[in-house]
Amino acid sequence: MRRKITVVGAGRVGETTAHVLAKRALGDVVLVDVVPSLAHGKALDLMELGPLDGSDVRVAGSTGYEESRYSDVVVVTSGLPRKPGESREDLLKKNIAIVRSVVEQVMHWSPGAFLLMVTNPIDTMAWVAKAVTGWPRERVFGMAGILDTSRLRAFLAMELGCSVRDVTALVLGGHGDEMVPLVRCAAAGGIPVEELLPPERLEAAVARTRGAGGEIVKMLGFSAYFSPAGAIADMVQAVLKDEKRVVPCSAYLQGEYGARDVYLGVPVLLGAGGVERIFQVSLTGTEKQMLSRSIQLCRESIEEARALMGVAV
Ligand code: 2OP
Repeated sequence: MRRKITVVGAGRVGETTAHVLAKRALGDVVLVDVVPSLAHGKALDLMELGPLDGSDVRVAGSTGYEESRYSDVVVVTSGLPRKPGESREDLLKKNIAIVRSVVEQVMHWSPGAFLLMVTNPIDTMAWVAKAVTGWPRERVFGMAGILDTSRLRAFLAMELGCSVRDVTALVLGGHGDEMVPLVRCAAAGGIPVEELLPPERLEAAVARTRGAGGEIVKMLGFSAYFSPAGAIADMVQAVLKDEKRVVPCSAYLQGEYGARDVYLGVPVLLGAGGVERIFQVSLTGTEKQMLSRSIQLCRESIEEARALMGVAV
């Protein structure tokens, strides 16, 4: 029996995610969007790509959720993306009602699913999803750190002129300009990058990672979608294939890193049980300060979400 993955939102991130998921043949894909025929047309196009990709998964489009019934994983990308000059946080008021209504549908149609939140501001939307569903933290998480880490790896590989495959890194914190790229943990072929690059080049890679989302919005007039889609697909694959990946995801903290009732990008063990474990990284004083700042911003955003939802959740 093939697994089923629902992607809610057939915009650039949603359609690209559906394409990558279908190409990897991780399971049947249901693409949902409120715009009539949008998801249907993109799903049909992806079905017609199947023979060329050698993928036999079924891709279906829908404006409702019945087709998504009993999904194993639901990816929520619906909502407005950033425009030039907007921060991810600016999207909270615009997206919270959309996300809440989507999550309520997911609760009804796929009560046993893993819920992967992508809509920005991602850490807050993951918190909204957990508050609305009441599901355990293992099953409600967000895509962010894995994307930010991929960007840092790409920029370090550019600096080093080496294969991206041999660069490892870790970005902690909220998916915003206050994220915490841990260059201290980055390596190329196991060699700490701090031994390979001068401080100013490392700082340049860190700064570019923090601003990477905005850099693309400035160029394109809208958010990135190729790299987010790849990050989403890696997370879905880790769950469906029980890969036990150690990757940074937006996870619900219950005391880890000194934070509680907040979603934050932290390294997790991602497998068939979802977020199976949260790893605690020992941090320097400066890193702790940066992470505390990021946690504070996440907390402020959650308080605004709580007020916007108008309920004590
Ligand atoms: C990004 O950083 C869309 O938040 C996503 O590009």
